Amino acid sequence: MSQKPGVLVTRKLPQAVEERLRRDYEPEFNAEDRLYPSEELLHRARGKAAIVACHTEHFTSEVIDRLPDTVRAITNFSVGVDHVDLSAAKSRGLIVTNTPDVLSDATAEIAMLLMLGAARRAGEGERLVRAAKWDSWSPAFMVGIQVTGKRLGVIGMGRVGQVTAERARGFEMEILYHNRSRLDPAAEKGARYYQALDQMLPECEFLSIHCPATAETRGLINAARIERLPDGAIVVNTARGAVVDDDALIAALESGKLAAAGLDVFNNEPDINPKYRKLENTFLLPHIGSATRETRDAMGFRALDNLDAILTGQEPRDRVA
Ligand code: DGY
Repeated sequence: MSQKPGVLVTRKLPQAVEERLRRDYEPEFNAEDRLYPSEELLHRARGKAAIVACHTEHFTSEVIDRLPDTVRAITNFSVGVDHVDLSAAKSRGLIVTNTPDVLSDATAEIAMLLMLGAARRAGEGERLVRAAKWDSWSPAFMVGIQVTGKRLGVIGMGRVGQVTAERARGFEMEILYHNRSRLDPAAEKGARYYQALDQMLPECEFLSIHCPATAETRGLINAARIERLPDGAIVVNTARGAVVDDDALIAALESGKLAAAGLDVFNNEPDINPKYRKLENTFLLPHIGSATRETRDAMGFRALDNLDAILTGQEPRDRVA
């Protein structure tokens, strides 16, 4: 009988990552890449030492309480951990890890893509060309908003926020940020810190969301905060949909209070609020912030480094619970 620990891998992972899992563990893969309902996940977790999970699985306190006793850890293939009830995990003595750092470049690329796409009406333009409805050119045609030189407010100046700010500097954007704590000057690189989000908002021609979804940040971008933004501002979100109040954002896009929004993440993915689809001034992507070959490999290896540490009795690098 094999001595390798059993590991449940909830989604299809990059080939090199699955090969490493096969080499070191007794993995149960999800070849169809199907989203397991909780009951099935619990069933498949029987006898496993750990679960390599993604943000698509919801580890509520109920699910955590019902996990088989053999399961010692959830090593996430994600930086976000809002899909795991961390306090329930802690109470059960379950170790939970994430994959920070390795997806910052890829996600910052998507934040820039969203800013550019929303400001320059890229979705609208692409739809026009694809539908063979582009029939002329004029100086008044598809005029958008220039990104270069504008003021960008960053909410959450962690790893992804800092890389996004750096990329935005390439567009000569002036950087403002709101964060729980102020960065040291070397990391700040001249960005202006606002301890109070409400004070920063009126200055933001662009607003990019990079904070995690927590009890404190859920619905943070609500009607009152959107009202504080300058008329014609652009909001982009690569963090989590839960940070935004959809009704408020949609109302502001409908009224023209906001010029546009670029969204890669949504409440209730993939069944997003259908009103987003109807709006011409939204530039929408299907949660692909970290979706590059390089980053997905790096996320997988980071998750496995954490798994290796836990199952050999060491402290994992990225423990969140
Ligand atoms: C993350 O890592 O949190 C991304 O959103 C993908 O799950």
